[in-house]
Amino acid sequence: MVYSEEELYRPEFHFTPKANWMNDPNGMFFYNGYYHLYFQHYPDGNVWGPMHWGHAISTDMVTWVEKPIALFPDEKGYIFSGSAVVDANNTSGFGEGGKIPIVAMFTYHDMDKEKQGDIDFQSQAIAYSLDEGLTWEKYADNPVIKNPNIKDFRDPKIVWDAVNKKWIMVLAAGQEIMFYSSKNLKDWEFLSNFGENVGSHNGVWECPDLFAMQTEGTDEIKWVLLVSVGSGGYNEGSATQYFVGDFDGKTFKIDPTFKDHLDKNNASWIDYGKDNYAGVTWSNIPDTDGRKLFIGWMSNWQYAIKVPTEKWRSSMTVARELKLTKTDNQYQLKSLPVKEISNYVSKTVKKSSISIEKGKRTLLTNNTLVDFKSLDIHFKINNLKEDTYTFCFDNKRGDSIKFGVNNNKQFYFSDRTASGNISFSKDFAPNISKAPYAANGNDLEVRLLLDKTSIEIFYNNGETVMTEIFFPKNPIEAFSVKSENFNFEIENLIINELNF
Ligand code: FRU
Repeated sequence: MVYSEEELYRPEFHFTPKANWMNDPNGMFFYNGYYHLYFQHYPDGNVWGPMHWGHAISTDMVTWVEKPIALFPDEKGYIFSGSAVVDANNTSGFGEGGKIPIVAMFTYHDMDKEKQGDIDFQSQAIAYSLDEGLTWEKYADNPVIKNPNIKDFRDPKIVWDAVNKKWIMVLAAGQEIMFYSSKNLKDWEFLSNFGENVGSHNGVWECPDLFAMQTEGTDEIKWVLLVSVGSGGYNEGSATQYFVGDFDGKTFKIDPTFKDHLDKNNASWIDYGKDNYAGVTWSNIPDTDGRKLFIGWMSNWQYAIKVPTEKWRSSMTVARELKLTKTDNQYQLKSLPVKEISNYVSKTVKKSSISIEKGKRTLLTNNTLVDFKSLDIHFKINNLKEDTYTFCFDNKRGDSIKFGVNNNKQFYFSDRTASGNISFSKDFAPNISKAPYAANGNDLEVRLLLDKTSIEIFYNNGETVMTEIFFPKNPIEAFSVKSENFNFEIENLIINELNF
C-alpha cells in the first residue's frame, strides 16, 4: 500500500500548521476559555523564511484550530519569537472602551541591517490586541528596547511579578540572559544579567522563560529559569536547560543546592530527547487552575528544515504540566502531558503481571488489538536487575523505534537509528539518544505518548523526559519488549487508544 504524506506523517494530536514552515511556540496566553498558541511561521514555504506569527486556539491544549496569521513582517523586520500577556489593569493604556488589551512583545529582526554587517539588527517591539488575540496593532513607537550593540538579542518573555507589582521581562543576549522591568509594558529598565558561569554555552542562548513555582508539597516558592541553547544539548543539537533559584525583583540567583544537579555541560535539561526546543509556558492561567503549562517545538535546528514532510514542517510537543519537586535536597522540574489528553481515550487494553522471558522478544500488543496512530501507554517494572530492557514499536518492513533503560550502565535510551526514513540528515540518528538514569528505588514507571511521527517518554512520573520524532516508511504495527539476562514482570500495562 502506498501512503500519502498526510496519512503517514500528519500527527494525530500534535499541533502542525496546515501548510508550510513552523518553529518556536510564541505568545501563549489563556483568556476567556481559550488557550492561545502563536508560532514562528513562514506561510509561503516549507523552510525557514521571513518570520510571521501564526496563530491557533484551543479549549483544552489538545485540539487546535488554526486562525489567520497574527503578525506579519514589515519594514522594521521579521517577527521573531516573543510572548504575550493579558493586561487586565490596562497598565499599557492600550485598552479602549473597557476592552482589555492583550500585549505581545516580540523581536524585530532587521535582515537589511544584518546583511550590511551591522550587529545591532535585533530589537524588541510590542503590539496589542483588543479582540482577544485575533488581530493585532503594532505600537507606533517601536522598538521599545533598542539594540545595545549585542549581536543576538532576542525572544522577550514577560511575566507579572506579583510581589514587586511590576512586569518582568527576560530575553536572551548572546550567551546570557538579561532581565528588565516595566510598569506599563512600554518603558523598560534594565535590571541584571545571568548565566556567565553556569549552563551549557555550546551554542547561542534563545527563548528564555522565568516563572515562580511552588515546590510540591510545601509553601516554598522558587523561581525557574528556562534557557534554550542552539546547540550542545545532552544528545547534541538544540535543547532546553533549566535553573532553579530565587528572583528578588532584580536578580536571579541559582539555588546553591541546584549546582549538584548540573551535568558535565554545567546544565540540567527539561527533556533529554532531541526534539523539544524553544519551549515556554502559558501566561494568565487562572489561580483556580494553578498549573504551569508548557509547550515546545518538536524538532531540532540540526535537521528541522530537512525532515521528510513537504506540505508542512514541524509540530509542537504535547502540552505539558510542569511541577517542581524537592527530594533529598534536590530540586527537579518534572513534566507530564496535560490531563486533558485523557478525555480522548476511546479504548483501553489492560494486562496485569506479564511475565517476560529473558533473551526473547515478547509481543505486548499489535495492530489487530490497537491502532498505533495515537496511544497513551502506562506500565511499571518492579525490581530492575542489572540488565537492559528494550521496548520496541515496529512494523513488518522493519522500521523500529526503541526505548528503555540500560541498568548496567545506568542510562535511559531512545533509538531511532532504524526508524525508516533517517537519511535526510546525518545528524538525525547518528546514535541512540541517552539520558541519565536516576534510579528510584529499583522500580521503573513509564508513561508514553505515541503519535504517527513522535514518541514522548515520561519516566518515573515525568522526572526524566525524552521526546523524539521519527518517519517510518509504513505505519507502526506492533509493540514488544526484550530483556537480555533476567526474566522479569511488567505490572499493569495500560494501553489507551486515543481518538481525535
Ligand atoms: C529559536 C529561534 C529564536 C528566534 C526564532 C527565529 O528557535 O532561533 O531565537 O527568535 O527562532 O525564528
